[in-house]
Amino acid sequence: MATTTIHTGFTNEQRGEIAAGLTKVLADSYAVYLKTHGYHWNVRGPNFASLHAMFMEQYTEVWGALDDIAERIRALGEFAPQGYSALANLTGIKDGQPDRDAEAMIKELMVDHESVIGTVRGALKAADEAGDEATVDLLTQRLAAHEKHAWMLRATLGAK
Ligand SMILES: [Fe+2]
Repeated sequence: MATTTIHTGFTNEQRGEIAAGLTKVLADSYAVYLKTHGYHWNVRGPNFASLHAMFMEQYTEVWGALDDIAERIRALGEFAPQGYSALANLTGIKDGQPDRDAEAMIKELMVDHESVIGTVRGALKAADEAGDEATVDLLTQRLAAHEKHAWMLRATLGAK
């Protein structure tokens, strides 16, 4: 196998640390994507139509970001995690349950987005300290997106 050295202005330690942060963000994002899509299928009740649509909007947005996060990890010279079990082992976000009522689903997703936000902030710190503007840019966008999803879920519950 050919060996090459990566010259992108970061030490190996910095690349590893930034990629590790992105890997956690990817795993959290994948988990929240998967749960939101499941709740899109299984949500029930008088607000079915609006929740079904809101969940679709949110899982579609998160799905769209997964590729960018994984490819940033690859651009840093590290492998992106692959497969259900690898991703599950990297996140604290648990699978959803189809029999939960609509309010419980919304609350759960809101807390999950807040959890992703915490993970993104941690990953941002390493990227920022290393001067990795490309990762900072990507993660800043992810922060805004998850904060927006959390707000919409919170507002759906009638909270400020
Ligand atoms: Fe659908």
